Amino acid sequence: MSTDNRRRSETLEISRQIHWDQKLINRYNVSGPRYTSYPTALEFSPTVNNQSYLKALQDLPKSNHLSLYVHIPFCWHVCYYCACNKVVTRDYDRVSPYLDALLKEIETVSSQLKGQTVTQVHFGGGTPTFLNRDDLNSLMNQLRHAFNFADNQELECSIEIDPRTVTVDDLKHLKTLGFNRLSLGVQDFDSSVQKAVNRVQSEHEIEQLMTAARELKFDSISFDLIYGLPKQTVTSFNATLDKVIQLQPDRLSVFNYAHLPHRFKPQRRIKAEELPGSDDKLNILHNTIDRMQSAGYVYIGMDHFALPTDELAIAQSKGELHRNFQGYTTQKHCDLIGLGVSAISSLQANEQSAGIYSQNARELTDYMQQVKHSGLAVWRGAHLSRDDQIRKSIIFELICNFSLDITASQEHWGINFRDYFVSSIEALNRLEDDGMIVMSESNISITDRGRLFVRNVCMAFDSYFFGGRFGENLLHSSSGVTNAYSKAI
Ligand SMILES: C[S@@+](CC[C@H](N)C(=O)[O-])C[C@H]1O[C@@H](n2cnc3c(N)ncnc32)[C@H](O)[C@@H]1O
Ligand code: SF4
Repeated sequence: MSTDNRRRSETLEISRQIHWDQKLINRYNVSGPRYTSYPTALEFSPTVNNQSYLKALQDLPKSNHLSLYVHIPFCWHVCYYCACNKVVTRDYDRVSPYLDALLKEIETVSSQLKGQTVTQVHFGGGTPTFLNRDDLNSLMNQLRHAFNFADNQELECSIEIDPRTVTVDDLKHLKTLGFNRLSLGVQDFDSSVQKAVNRVQSEHEIEQLMTAARELKFDSISFDLIYGLPKQTVTSFNATLDKVIQLQPDRLSVFNYAHLPHRFKPQRRIKAEELPGSDDKLNILHNTIDRMQSAGYVYIGMDHFALPTDELAIAQSKGELHRNFQGYTTQKHCDLIGLGVSAISSLQANEQSAGIYSQNARELTDYMQQVKHSGLAVWRGAHLSRDDQIRKSIIFELICNFSLDITASQEHWGINFRDYFVSSIEALNRLEDDGMIVMSESNISITDRGRLFVRNVCMAFDSYFFGGRFGENLLHSSSGVTNAYSKAI
C-alpha cells in the first residue's frame, strides 16, 4: 500500500460516517446499478452457454478457493412486496424433483473441478428453510461429498431464514449441519405494515431465535429490513429500529423497497396510496442512518451496516472487502459457483480465461428439464474482456473501500489512468466539484458526503451505462435504465 493510500485508509477508519446533504440527494438520486457484478446482469447474453461454463470450470486453477451459492426457490406464503425468484406452494412434493435436478447439477459441476477448497457456502431463496430436516441433511451431505469443504473453523456457512418457518430446534439442527451464520428476514416489526404486506410475524418469535442463535454461538447474525413499505412512517420505522438496536444483530441490510407491480404480480395487492411518499421515504432513510450510526454501527456501503466487531467492518477497515451477488463479502479471491434455478456463477480471470459470469435458467421447469437433459442449465452470462476486468476492479474497489489507489491500479493493469479513463474525467470533475470525491494523481477518495452515492461514482467508470460518455445531462438521465436498476435511496 502506498503511503498516500495508507494515510487515507487511516482517515477512513476514523471517519466512516455518512454526511446527509439534501442538495446532493436531490441532484444524484437517479436510478443506477447496484454493482453486484460488472458488467451488470443487464449485459448478460446467450454468448455464455453450458459449453463455455464447463470450459471455465475446467480451467479454474487448483489453488483457487470456492464460494457456493445454493438457491432454494420455495416459500409457503407470498409476501406481497417480494421481488425474489421464488415459487410459492403448499405442496412439499415439488421439492423432490427440484433436489434431484440440483444434485445432478452439483455432480456435473464438481466433476469438472480439481478439488479446489470451498471456504464459503450460502443457502438463499426463496426460503431455504422450506426444506425439511431430512432434505437439508441430504443436500448438505451431497455438497460435502461432491466438493472439498474447508475445515469447519475455516468455512463460512450461511443461510437465509424466514423466522416464521424456523424453531429453536431447527437452529440447533442447522448448527449441526455446519451453518455458522444466519440472515433473518425481519422487514418491519410494525403489525399494520406486516398486515399490509401479508407477512405477519411476532417480535417474540424473532427474540427467541436471536437468543437461541447467540446461545448456539452462530458467528454472525444479520437482519433484513425494507424501507418504503406500505403504512410505514418515520415514527413506525423508528420503533422497528428501537427493537433492532435492542436485539443487536451483527449486520443489518436496509433495502429500498422496489415497487414494480407490472413485473411482480403480488405487488399489485399493495395499495399505492398506502406507500410512503418520496419525502417520507427519504426521512425514514435519514433517520435510519442517524440511528444506526449513533447505535455504533458502521455504514459498510449501499444498504449495509455492521457492528465494528463484525468481519465485514473489520475487512473494510483493512481494505479487504469484496462484492458478489449476495452483496458484500469478506472472501476476496473466491470463485463463486451458483447452483439451482436462476443462480449466478462468477469465475475469475486466470491464465486460460479472462473471467466469466454464468446464470442458470430462471424458470423452475426450464431449469429442471435442462439439467435432466444435459446436467447443466446455463441460460446466459458474460465473458469479461480486459476492459471489463479493469473497470470491474475499479468499481469494486470504490464500492467496497470508498477509495481507489490509482497508482496501484496503473501498475497492476499497465495503463495510464488519465488516458485510459479520459471519458470518465468530466463526470469525476463534476463529482469533485460537488464535494462527493477528492482526487489526486494517486487516489480517489469518496467523502462522507459522497458515501450514500458511491454507485454514482462507480457509474463514471461503467462503459455500458452511458457508452463511456458521461456528462451533466447524461448524469441526470434515466435513459437506458431498466428495472434491474434502482434509485440509490
Ligand atoms: C430471499 S428473501 C430472505 C429469506 C426469506 N425468504 C425471508 O423472506 O425471510 C431476501 C430478502 O430480499 C428482500 N426483498 C424482497 N423483495 C424486495 C423488494 N421488492 N424490495 C426490496 N427488498 C426486497 C427482503 O428483505 C428479503 O428478506
Ligand atoms: S420475502 Fe422471502 S418468504 Fe416472502 S415471498 Fe419473498 S422469498 Fe418468500
